[in-house]
Amino acid sequence: MSDTTTPQATSPATPPATHALVDGPVGPGCKKVDPIVVADGVIRQFGGLTAVDVEHVEIPRGMITALIGPNGAGKTTFFNLLTGFDRPNKGAWSFEGQSLAHVPSHKVARRGMVRTFQLTKSLGRLTVLQNMLLGARDQRGEGLFAALVKPLWKAQEEANTARADNLLARFKLDEKREDYAASLSGGQRKLLEMARALMSEPTLVMLDEPMAGVNPALTQSLLDHVRGLKDDGMTVLFVEHDMHMVRHISDWVIVMAEGKVVAEGPPETIMQNKAVVDAYLGAHHDTDLGTLTNQQVEQIHEDADAGATVAPDATARRTTGRGASVAQPTDAPPARATDADDQEAQR
Ligand SMILES: Nc1ncnc2c1ncn2[C@@H]1O[C@H](COP(=O)(O)OP(=O)(O)O)[C@@H](O)[C@H]1O
Ligand SMILES: [Mg+2]
Repeated sequence: MSDTTTPQATSPATPPATHALVDGPVGPGCKKVDPIVVADGVIRQFGGLTAVDVEHVEIPRGMITALIGPNGAGKTTFFNLLTGFDRPNKGAWSFEGQSLAHVPSHKVARRGMVRTFQLTKSLGRLTVLQNMLLGARDQRGEGLFAALVKPLWKAQEEANTARADNLLARFKLDEKREDYAASLSGGQRKLLEMARALMSEPTLVMLDEPMAGVNPALTQSLLDHVRGLKDDGMTVLFVEHDMHMVRHISDWVIVMAEGKVVAEGPPETIMQNKAVVDAYLGAHHDTDLGTLTNQQVEQIHEDADAGATVAPDATARRTTGRGASVAQPTDAPPARATDADDQEAQR
């Protein structure tokens, strides 16, 4: 009897099903040793469509976590829910041990959880500095009493301006300080948005596709900035299609599909997860990936149940030698992810 499904001998050793960040076995919804965000039963429906249906997820504190998945997986909606920009149909979640359900976005930011947007929200008709000052939290001048006491808001304003100038220098936007935000390039706007998020001295920074629309020349500095946030003690949660970024800066990767968390693990493990590779990391990983087929979602579940390990090879079984097809990701040759990896590593 011939066995046509023999796993590829090139697979590395099975990764351990435990991890230093995880309390218990690794898998979708696994408990973290030190979570900063814990979400339970979060559901968001739009009409008949369930955009988010997260049973349980925990974000590790002080780490960089990537949230990946095809377009329409529910990543942005989940960000909106966590940060109070949208309300779920059901669900509870906490940040630093305190419930955030029903807390509006400006109060969420005040508690130390800030986010940037997939489409930047810098205000074109304000200067770069004015945009920054809008990001400051606890502006004393906003309270009625404080607003009447000039020394209080004056000192606050000076402190905020000094902080803004520091951040602008750090993000190399200091020369643009007095320019209208509308005059910035796409990449500079992304940097401005990140800088503005830092005005409120957050503990958790959530970035929605920070690399989208960024000139490759700015890529490295953006990566360095995100790493810098972690070095400064912040937790980072980011959504990104750019697998170079995911691979090189994340400590942990969470995969969403059809609103659910379907896999999670360290990047090296997730990048070897066959179904994840086929679905997201093929040659077209940075373009619109469309929706996953049921079969792909099932495969991701199976792989996740196996501890997000390398699946013994759904891909090889179907390799026919007629080349890769984007529409049929399971036809992609197994070597593809590695080739793409190498090319990216050489960039
Ligand atoms: N305001 C909305 N009204 C109706 N449908 C929405 C709305 N926002 C998102 N959706 C739908 O919810 C699903 C998840 O979208 P989204 O969270 O933007 O996905 P992702 O960020 O992973 O690409 C998609 O099918 C999208 O069309
Ligand atoms: Mg999105």
